[in-house]
Amino acid sequence: MWSVLAGVLAVASLGAACTPSVTTVSGTHAPVTVCSGALIFADDFNSFDLEKWQHENTLAGGGNWEFQYYSNNRSNSFTHSGRLFIRPSLTSDQFGEPFLSSGTLNVEGGAPADRCTNPRWWGCERTGSPSNILNPIKSARIRTVNSFSFRYGRVEVRAKMPAGDWLWPAIWLMPAYNTYGTWPASGEIDLVESRGNRAMTHNGLHIGTQEAGSTLHYGPYPELNGWERAHWLRRNTAGYNSNFHRYQLEWTPNYLRFSIDDVELGRATPGNGGFWEYGGFNANPRIENPWRYGSKMAPFDEKFYLIINLAVGGTNGFFPDNVSNPTPKPWWNGSPSAATDFWNGRWGWLPTWNLNSNDGQDASLQVDYVRIWAL
Ligand SMILES: *[C@@H]1O[C@H](CO)[C@@H](O)[C@H](O)[C@H]1NC(C)=O
Ligand SMILES: *[C@@H]1O[C@H](CO)[C@@H](O)[C@H](O)[C@H]1NC(C)=O
Repeated sequence: MWSVLAGVLAVASLGAACTPSVTTVSGTHAPVTVCSGALIFADDFNSFDLEKWQHENTLAGGGNWEFQYYSNNRSNSFTHSGRLFIRPSLTSDQFGEPFLSSGTLNVEGGAPADRCTNPRWWGCERTGSPSNILNPIKSARIRTVNSFSFRYGRVEVRAKMPAGDWLWPAIWLMPAYNTYGTWPASGEIDLVESRGNRAMTHNGLHIGTQEAGSTLHYGPYPELNGWERAHWLRRNTAGYNSNFHRYQLEWTPNYLRFSIDDVELGRATPGNGGFWEYGGFNANPRIENPWRYGSKMAPFDEKFYLIINLAVGGTNGFFPDNVSNPTPKPWWNGSPSAATDFWNGRWGWLPTWNLNSNDGQDASLQVDYVRIWAL
């Protein structure tokens, strides 16, 4: 289907109709010629195209000690009725509960599609102990890292957020080549993130299913990240889990603009000092600016690829310790036994996931389509 479309685009581009675009692309599913305004990547999820979407296979926990194990398994990621579903399940369903606190899980496989995709943070092999159990949740994270990356364009993803305590869905973009160095020096674009708790408040605000956010991460090294100046939230009292919404990014050589259902959420428009000044990093003259020879959009002037995942928990503070929730948050973010504490608190969160009704759809991140256009 795509190759036919790509062929049509390529043929069309030979005619006079193709206005060249500032957008650039790469990857196995990138069009040969990029015409202004053209659809350059799309998936309606009428089938699960693993040529487009590579699964992560890792225990790494996203660098935040998140509680999930990502693998390529149709129990956790599948397409059905024209939608992509990422559905969480319990690791103990597959391996038995004693395995969590005593088993060794090695996720490295021999086939090309079974290789461990992230060895950091004990990502390829872990041994469980009673105080530090193996990742108790199975889930999925898929990415276009080989099939498609692009610089500048318009993105629209129609999706429905999951509901269930401590679920953390994300649709985001990461740099294809780390041109300015490793995270966060080459940037991160978070199109949408939310929290699955139906009735969680923090400082009086509902920060669960009624909140969705978009964020940019950028900075010279992990401890110096200017995300707080590029972070926007929107509230919806019906909950982002109750309907599909269109999460949108417009990314140009002048700004990054996030919208939900065509209503702008926020935008970052750096001045001539670029994101170095935008993030306030110029206040310290001793730090070298890795973007000094890039454009004012650097690090957001290089190619990024798309990621869709459903994470759970973690200790980085995305779920603050002081939240108010119908059942208490079962782990502290400073706990060395966070995964064990989370698992021991499953009497509180597991019933909220409704895994046994309607094929676990409540707790699933659902995506209707992904579309990316050239500028
Ligand atoms: C896929 O996940 C299911 C549910 O956890 C499990 O029973 C099955 O063994 C898994 N398949 C593989 C090949 O790991
Ligand atoms: C917030 O959580 C911390 C644990 O991280 C706890 O020590 C502190 O007492 C809490 N503060 C409030 C105001 O509840």
